[in-house]
Amino acid sequence: MKASNKMIDLRSDTVTTPTPEMIEAMSRAELGDDFFRDDPTVLDFEAEVAGLLGVESAMLVISGTMGNVVSAMALAPRGTSIILEAAAHIHIKESGWPSTIAGLTPRPVQGIGGMISPTALADAIAVGQSRLSAPASLLCLENTHNAAGGRVMSPEDLAVLAGMAHESGLNVHLDGARIFNAAISLGRSVSDFVQPVDTTTFCLCKGLSCPLGAVVAASSEIIEQTRRWRQILGGGMRQAGVIAAAGRVALRTMVDRLAEDHQNAKLLATRLRDAGFDVDPSAVDTNIVFVNLPTGDFDVDNLHSELLEGGVRISPVKAGRLRLLTHREVTQREALVASDLIAKACGAARGRQPSGVNKARVEAIY
Ligand SMILES: Cc1ncc(COP(=O)(O)O)c(C=O)c1O
Repeated sequence: MKASNKMIDLRSDTVTTPTPEMIEAMSRAELGDDFFRDDPTVLDFEAEVAGLLGVESAMLVISGTMGNVVSAMALAPRGTSIILEAAAHIHIKESGWPSTIAGLTPRPVQGIGGMISPTALADAIAVGQSRLSAPASLLCLENTHNAAGGRVMSPEDLAVLAGMAHESGLNVHLDGARIFNAAISLGRSVSDFVQPVDTTTFCLCKGLSCPLGAVVAASSEIIEQTRRWRQILGGGMRQAGVIAAAGRVALRTMVDRLAEDHQNAKLLATRLRDAGFDVDPSAVDTNIVFVNLPTGDFDVDNLHSELLEGGVRISPVKAGRLRLLTHREVTQREALVASDLIAKACGAARGRQPSGVNKARVEAIY
Protein backbone atom coordinates (compact mmCIF):
# COMPACT_ATOMS: atom_id res chain seq x y z
CA MET A 1 0.00 0.00 0.00
CA LYS A 2 1.15 3.54 -0.75
CA ALA A 3 2.00 6.00 1.99
CA SER A 4 -0.39 8.98 2.11
CA ASN A 5 0.53 12.54 0.95
CA LYS A 6 0.95 11.50 -2.63
CA MET A 7 3.84 13.24 -4.33
CA ILE A 8 4.45 13.07 -8.07
CA ASP A 9 7.54 10.93 -7.84
CA LEU A 10 9.70 11.11 -10.96
CA ARG A 11 12.88 9.74 -9.34
CA SER A 12 12.52 6.22 -10.71
CA ASP A 13 10.07 3.58 -11.90
CA THR A 14 11.26 1.48 -8.93
CA VAL A 15 9.08 3.60 -6.60
CA THR A 16 5.96 1.83 -7.86
CA THR A 17 4.14 -0.15 -5.19
CA PRO A 18 2.42 -3.52 -5.77
CA THR A 19 -1.15 -3.42 -7.06
CA PRO A 20 -4.02 -4.72 -4.89
CA GLU A 21 -4.20 -7.73 -7.23
CA MET A 22 -0.54 -8.48 -6.55
CA ILE A 23 -1.00 -8.23 -2.79
CA GLU A 24 -4.00 -10.53 -3.02
CA ALA A 25 -2.01 -13.04 -5.12
CA MET A 26 0.92 -12.87 -2.70
CA SER A 27 -1.29 -13.55 0.28
CA ARG A 28 -2.98 -16.53 -1.39
CA ALA A 29 0.07 -18.07 -3.10
CA GLU A 30 0.63 -21.78 -2.71
CA LEU A 31 4.11 -22.08 -1.18
CA GLY A 32 6.91 -24.60 -0.66
CA ASP A 33 10.67 -24.63 -0.20
CA ASP A 34 12.32 -23.46 -3.40
CA PHE A 35 15.64 -25.03 -2.37
CA PHE A 36 13.95 -28.41 -2.92
CA ARG A 37 12.18 -26.98 -6.01
CA ASP A 38 8.98 -27.49 -4.04
CA ASP A 39 7.36 -24.09 -4.40
CA PRO A 40 4.59 -24.52 -7.00
CA THR A 41 4.16 -20.78 -7.51
CA VAL A 42 7.86 -20.32 -8.30
CA LEU A 43 7.84 -23.33 -10.64
CA ASP A 44 4.75 -22.06 -12.49
CA PHE A 45 6.10 -18.55 -12.73
CA GLU A 46 9.50 -19.66 -14.04
CA ALA A 47 7.82 -21.90 -16.63
CA GLU A 48 5.54 -19.02 -17.69
CA VAL A 49 8.54 -16.70 -18.14
CA ALA A 50 10.45 -19.33 -20.14
CA GLY A 51 7.42 -19.79 -22.44
CA LEU A 52 6.96 -16.06 -22.89
CA LEU A 53 10.61 -15.44 -23.69
CA GLY A 54 10.96 -18.56 -25.85
CA VAL A 55 13.79 -20.11 -23.81
CA GLU A 56 14.13 -23.45 -22.02
CA SER A 57 14.36 -22.21 -18.49
CA ALA A 58 14.15 -19.27 -16.11
CA MET A 59 15.18 -18.54 -12.53
CA LEU A 60 13.82 -16.02 -10.05
CA VAL A 61 16.43 -13.81 -8.37
CA ILE A 62 16.17 -11.07 -5.82
CA SER A 63 17.37 -8.18 -8.02
CA GLY A 64 18.47 -7.20 -11.50
CA THR A 65 22.03 -6.85 -10.25
CA MET A 66 22.04 -10.41 -8.95
CA GLY A 67 20.67 -11.62 -12.29
CA ASN A 68 23.50 -9.85 -14.11
CA VAL A 69 26.16 -11.23 -11.74
CA VAL A 70 25.04 -14.87 -11.89
CA SER A 71 24.63 -14.70 -15.68
CA ALA A 72 28.14 -13.34 -16.17
CA MET A 73 29.61 -15.90 -13.76
CA ALA A 74 27.94 -18.71 -15.69
CA LEU A 75 29.18 -17.39 -19.04
CA ALA A 76 32.61 -15.86 -18.44
CA PRO A 77 35.66 -17.51 -16.82
CA ARG A 78 37.60 -15.52 -14.23
CA GLY A 79 40.59 -13.68 -15.68
CA THR A 80 38.81 -12.83 -18.91
CA SER A 81 37.18 -9.54 -19.83
CA ILE A 82 33.66 -8.36 -20.55
CA ILE A 83 32.84 -5.88 -23.27
CA LEU A 84 30.10 -3.41 -22.40
CA GLU A 85 28.92 0.05 -23.36
CA ALA A 86 30.80 2.76 -21.43
CA ALA A 87 27.68 3.96 -19.56
CA ALA A 88 26.16 0.49 -19.08
CA HIS A 89 24.46 0.00 -15.73
CA ILE A 90 26.73 -2.97 -15.03
CA HIS A 91 29.78 -0.79 -15.59
CA ILE A 92 28.82 2.38 -13.74
CA LYS A 93 26.08 1.46 -11.28
CA GLU A 94 26.61 -2.06 -9.96
CA SER A 95 29.36 -1.36 -7.45
CA GLY A 96 32.13 -2.94 -9.51
CA TRP A 97 31.08 -6.60 -9.23
CA PRO A 98 32.78 -7.65 -12.49
CA SER A 99 36.19 -7.17 -10.86
CA THR A 100 35.38 -7.65 -7.16
CA ILE A 101 33.17 -10.74 -7.44
CA ALA A 102 33.48 -12.24 -10.91
CA GLY A 103 37.20 -11.70 -11.59
CA LEU A 104 36.39 -10.02 -14.90
CA THR A 105 38.09 -7.00 -16.44
CA PRO A 106 35.53 -4.59 -17.88
CA ARG A 107 36.28 -3.37 -21.39
CA PRO A 108 34.03 -0.33 -21.87
CA VAL A 109 33.20 0.76 -25.40
CA GLN A 110 31.82 4.23 -26.14
CA GLY A 111 28.40 3.91 -27.78
CA ILE A 112 26.00 6.35 -29.40
CA GLY A 113 22.64 6.59 -27.66
CA GLY A 114 23.74 3.57 -25.63
CA MET A 115 24.45 1.48 -28.73
CA ILE A 116 27.83 0.00 -29.50
CA SER A 117 28.55 0.11 -33.24
CA PRO A 118 29.65 -3.09 -35.01
CA THR A 119 33.00 -1.42 -35.82
CA ALA A 120 33.61 -0.49 -32.18
CA LEU A 121 32.70 -4.02 -31.13
CA ALA A 122 35.10 -5.53 -33.68
CA ASP A 123 37.88 -3.26 -32.33
CA ALA A 124 37.13 -4.24 -28.73
CA ILE A 125 37.20 -7.94 -29.59
CA ALA A 126 40.49 -7.47 -31.48
CA VAL A 127 42.15 -5.81 -28.45
CA GLY A 128 41.50 -8.95 -26.44
CA GLN A 129 43.44 -11.01 -28.94
CA SER A 130 46.70 -9.39 -27.85
CA ARG A 131 48.75 -11.40 -25.34
CA LEU A 132 48.88 -8.23 -23.23
CA SER A 133 45.11 -8.15 -22.63
CA ALA A 134 42.65 -10.32 -20.81
CA PRO A 135 40.82 -12.14 -23.62
CA ALA A 136 37.20 -11.10 -24.01
CA SER A 137 34.74 -13.88 -23.17
CA LEU A 138 31.47 -11.98 -22.81
CA LEU A 139 29.53 -9.16 -24.44
CA CYS A 140 26.93 -7.49 -22.20
CA LEU A 141 24.22 -5.46 -23.93
CA GLU A 142 21.64 -3.26 -22.19
CA ASN A 143 18.11 -2.72 -23.54
CA THR A 144 16.55 -0.32 -22.83
CA HIS A 145 19.71 1.64 -22.06
CA ASN A 146 19.19 3.44 -18.78
CA ALA A 147 21.95 6.08 -18.88
CA ALA A 148 21.23 6.87 -22.53
CA GLY A 149 17.68 7.87 -21.54
CA GLY A 150 15.78 4.60 -21.98
CA ARG A 151 16.85 4.22 -25.62
CA VAL A 152 15.76 1.05 -27.39
CA MET A 153 17.92 -1.22 -29.53
CA SER A 154 15.95 -3.17 -32.15
CA PRO A 155 16.12 -6.97 -32.10
CA GLU A 156 17.85 -6.78 -35.49
CA ASP A 157 20.64 -4.46 -34.26
CA LEU A 158 20.99 -6.58 -31.17
CA ALA A 159 21.25 -9.73 -33.29
CA VAL A 160 24.05 -8.20 -35.40
CA LEU A 161 26.18 -7.50 -32.29
CA ALA A 162 25.35 -10.85 -30.68
CA GLY A 163 26.18 -12.66 -33.95
CA MET A 164 29.58 -10.93 -34.18
CA ALA A 165 30.36 -11.83 -30.57
CA HIS A 166 29.33 -15.45 -31.06
CA GLU A 167 31.44 -15.75 -34.22
CA SER A 168 34.44 -14.62 -32.18
CA GLY A 169 33.72 -17.18 -29.45
CA LEU A 170 32.20 -14.75 -26.92
CA ASN A 171 28.99 -15.37 -25.01
CA VAL A 172 26.32 -12.67 -24.84
CA HIS A 173 24.30 -11.44 -21.87
CA LEU A 174 21.38 -9.03 -22.18
CA ASP A 175 20.75 -6.72 -19.23
CA GLY A 176 17.09 -6.34 -20.06
CA ALA A 177 16.04 -4.72 -16.78
CA ARG A 178 13.43 -2.84 -18.86
CA ILE A 179 13.15 -5.23 -21.82
CA PHE A 180 9.33 -5.10 -21.73
CA ASN A 181 9.57 -1.32 -22.24
CA ALA A 182 11.71 -2.01 -25.31
CA ALA A 183 9.24 -4.59 -26.63
CA ILE A 184 6.22 -2.33 -26.10
CA SER A 185 7.98 0.66 -27.60
CA LEU A 186 8.69 -1.19 -30.87
CA GLY A 187 5.52 -3.29 -30.83
CA ARG A 188 7.64 -6.45 -30.88
CA SER A 189 7.51 -9.69 -28.98
CA VAL A 190 9.89 -9.79 -26.03
CA SER A 191 11.23 -13.12 -27.30
CA ASP A 192 12.63 -11.34 -30.40
CA PHE A 193 15.12 -9.57 -28.13
CA VAL A 194 16.02 -12.69 -26.17
CA GLN A 195 16.60 -15.17 -29.00
CA PRO A 196 20.00 -13.84 -30.15
CA VAL A 197 21.60 -13.92 -26.67
CA ASP A 198 22.71 -16.59 -24.19
CA THR A 199 21.25 -15.09 -21.00
CA THR A 200 18.74 -12.34 -20.28
CA THR A 201 17.89 -10.62 -17.02
CA PHE A 202 14.73 -8.57 -16.58
CA CYS A 203 13.36 -6.78 -13.53
CA LEU A 204 9.93 -7.19 -11.98
CA CYS A 205 10.15 -4.18 -9.68
CA LYS A 206 10.53 -1.32 -12.14
CA GLY A 207 7.73 -0.48 -14.60
CA LEU A 208 6.14 -3.85 -13.83
CA SER A 209 5.40 -2.65 -10.28
CA CYS A 210 6.33 -5.71 -8.20
CA PRO A 211 7.80 -5.06 -4.76
CA LEU A 212 11.01 -6.91 -5.66
CA GLY A 213 12.49 -9.55 -7.91
CA ALA A 214 14.06 -10.17 -11.28
CA VAL A 215 14.41 -13.15 -13.59
CA VAL A 216 17.26 -14.79 -15.49
CA ALA A 217 16.24 -16.62 -18.67
CA ALA A 218 18.45 -19.00 -20.66
CA SER A 219 18.95 -22.63 -21.70
CA SER A 220 18.40 -25.24 -18.97
CA GLU A 221 22.12 -25.95 -18.89
CA ILE A 222 23.02 -22.33 -18.23
CA ILE A 223 20.24 -21.89 -15.67
CA GLU A 224 21.67 -24.84 -13.71
CA GLN A 225 24.93 -22.92 -13.49
CA THR A 226 23.26 -19.62 -12.55
CA ARG A 227 21.37 -21.50 -9.83
CA ARG A 228 24.66 -22.57 -8.31
CA TRP A 229 26.11 -19.05 -8.49
CA ARG A 230 22.93 -17.66 -6.93
CA GLN A 231 23.43 -20.08 -4.04
CA ILE A 232 27.08 -19.04 -3.61
CA LEU A 233 26.04 -15.38 -3.47
CA GLY A 234 23.53 -16.14 -0.71
CA GLY A 235 20.61 -15.64 -3.06
CA GLY A 236 18.94 -19.02 -2.53
CA MET A 237 15.33 -18.59 -1.48
CA ARG A 238 12.72 -20.64 0.39
CA GLN A 239 8.99 -19.74 0.10
CA ALA A 240 9.77 -17.44 -2.81
CA GLY A 241 6.30 -17.99 -4.21
CA VAL A 242 5.30 -14.75 -2.50
CA ILE A 243 7.54 -12.93 -5.00
CA ALA A 244 6.62 -15.14 -7.94
CA ALA A 245 2.90 -14.61 -7.29
CA ALA A 246 3.31 -10.86 -7.77
CA GLY A 247 5.49 -11.56 -10.82
CA ARG A 248 2.73 -13.63 -12.43
CA VAL A 249 0.26 -10.79 -12.00
CA ALA A 250 2.83 -8.36 -13.41
CA LEU A 251 3.33 -10.38 -16.58
CA ARG A 252 -0.41 -10.58 -17.15
CA THR A 253 -1.45 -7.04 -16.23
CA MET A 254 1.49 -4.65 -16.26
CA VAL A 255 3.16 -5.14 -19.64
CA ASP A 256 0.74 -3.57 -22.12
CA ARG A 257 0.15 -0.55 -19.91
CA LEU A 258 3.84 0.47 -20.20
CA ALA A 259 2.72 2.28 -23.38
CA GLU A 260 0.99 4.86 -21.14
CA ASP A 261 4.28 5.55 -19.31
CA HIS A 262 5.97 6.09 -22.66
CA GLN A 263 3.24 8.51 -23.78
CA ASN A 264 3.49 10.43 -20.49
CA ALA A 265 7.29 10.66 -20.81
CA LYS A 266 6.90 12.05 -24.33
CA LEU A 267 4.31 14.53 -23.07
CA LEU A 268 6.61 15.68 -20.25
CA ALA A 269 9.49 16.12 -22.70
CA THR A 270 7.36 17.96 -25.25
CA ARG A 271 5.96 20.38 -22.64
CA LEU A 272 9.43 21.13 -21.30
CA ARG A 273 10.81 21.59 -24.82
CA ASP A 274 7.93 23.99 -25.60
CA ALA A 275 8.77 25.88 -22.39
CA GLY A 276 12.27 26.48 -23.81
CA PHE A 277 14.24 23.64 -22.25
CA ASP A 278 16.99 21.63 -23.92
CA VAL A 279 15.21 18.30 -24.28
CA ASP A 280 14.56 16.25 -27.40
CA PRO A 281 11.16 14.50 -27.31
CA SER A 282 12.11 12.43 -30.37
CA ALA A 283 14.86 10.81 -28.27
CA VAL A 284 12.30 9.64 -25.70
CA ASP A 285 11.73 6.02 -26.74
CA THR A 286 10.32 4.78 -23.44
CA ASN A 287 9.81 6.13 -19.90
CA ILE A 288 13.04 8.08 -19.24
CA VAL A 289 13.49 11.79 -20.00
CA PHE A 290 16.73 13.77 -19.74
CA VAL A 291 16.56 17.55 -19.56
CA ASN A 292 19.75 19.61 -19.86
CA LEU A 293 19.58 22.55 -17.49
CA PRO A 294 20.66 26.01 -18.62
CA THR A 295 24.37 26.67 -18.26
CA GLY A 296 25.56 29.49 -16.01
CA ASP A 297 24.34 30.24 -12.51
CA PHE A 298 21.60 27.87 -11.44
CA ASP A 299 20.46 27.20 -7.87
CA VAL A 300 19.88 23.43 -7.90
CA ASP A 301 19.20 23.39 -4.15
CA ASN A 302 16.38 25.84 -4.63
CA LEU A 303 15.06 23.84 -7.59
CA HIS A 304 14.79 20.71 -5.45
CA SER A 305 13.13 22.41 -2.52
CA GLU A 306 10.65 24.35 -4.72
CA LEU A 307 9.65 21.10 -6.41
CA LEU A 308 9.23 19.34 -3.09
CA GLU A 309 7.04 22.19 -1.89
CA GLY A 310 4.97 21.81 -5.04
CA GLY A 311 4.65 18.04 -4.59
CA VAL A 312 7.19 16.79 -7.15
CA ARG A 313 10.16 14.59 -6.37
CA ILE A 314 13.13 14.34 -8.70
CA SER A 315 16.54 12.73 -8.32
CA PRO A 316 19.44 15.03 -7.45
CA VAL A 317 20.63 16.94 -10.52
CA LYS A 318 23.77 15.33 -11.97
CA ALA A 319 26.07 16.80 -14.61
CA GLY A 320 23.64 19.66 -15.19
CA ARG A 321 20.88 17.24 -16.18
CA LEU A 322 17.47 16.32 -14.82
CA ARG A 323 16.52 12.66 -15.15
CA LEU A 324 12.78 12.06 -14.97
CA LEU A 325 11.01 8.70 -15.08
CA THR A 326 7.34 7.99 -15.63
CA HIS A 327 5.56 4.93 -14.30
CA ARG A 328 2.20 3.50 -13.24
CA GLU A 329 1.81 6.00 -10.38
CA VAL A 330 2.20 9.09 -12.57
CA THR A 331 -0.99 9.87 -14.45
CA GLN A 332 -1.17 11.95 -17.63
CA ARG A 333 -2.55 14.86 -15.61
CA GLU A 334 0.30 14.56 -13.13
CA ALA A 335 2.84 14.54 -15.96
CA LEU A 336 1.35 17.85 -17.12
CA VAL A 337 1.32 19.31 -13.59
CA ALA A 338 4.92 18.19 -13.05
CA SER A 339 6.14 19.73 -16.31
CA ASP A 340 4.60 23.09 -15.38
CA LEU A 341 6.09 22.97 -11.89
CA ILE A 342 9.52 22.00 -13.20
CA ALA A 343 9.44 24.83 -15.73
CA LYS A 344 8.44 27.31 -13.00
CA ALA A 345 11.02 26.06 -10.47
CA CYS A 346 13.77 26.11 -13.11
CA GLY A 347 12.82 29.67 -13.98
CA ALA A 348 13.18 30.66 -10.31
CA ALA A 349 16.54 28.87 -9.97
CA ARG A 350 18.03 30.40 -13.11
CA GLY A 351 20.63 33.14 -12.69
CA ARG A 352 21.11 32.38 -8.98
CA GLN A 353 24.15 30.89 -7.31
CA PRO A 354 23.48 27.58 -5.48
CA SER A 355 22.40 28.81 -2.07
CA GLY A 356 23.14 25.64 -0.13
CA VAL A 357 20.35 26.79 2.17
CA ASN A 358 17.98 23.96 1.35
CA LYS A 359 20.68 21.42 0.56
CA ALA A 360 20.62 19.64 3.91
CA ARG A 361 16.86 19.30 3.75
CA VAL A 362 16.90 17.95 0.22
CA GLU A 363 19.69 15.49 1.07
CA ALA A 364 17.81 14.33 4.16
CA ILE A 365 14.83 13.49 1.98
CA TYR A 366 16.78 11.49 -0.59
C1 LIG B 1 19.61 -1.24 -16.86
C2 LIG B 1 19.60 -1.73 -15.45
N1 LIG B 1 20.18 -2.90 -15.16
C3 LIG B 1 20.18 -3.39 -13.92
C4 LIG B 1 19.61 -2.71 -12.88
C5 LIG B 1 19.71 -3.27 -11.50
O1 LIG B 1 18.50 -3.68 -10.98
P1 LIG B 1 18.33 -3.83 -9.39
O2 LIG B 1 18.19 -2.47 -8.84
O3 LIG B 1 17.09 -4.67 -9.27
O4 LIG B 1 19.54 -4.54 -8.88
C6 LIG B 1 19.01 -1.47 -13.13
C7 LIG B 1 18.39 -0.70 -12.03
O5 LIG B 1 17.98 0.42 -12.19
C8 LIG B 1 19.01 -0.96 -14.44
O6 LIG B 1 18.47 0.23 -14.74
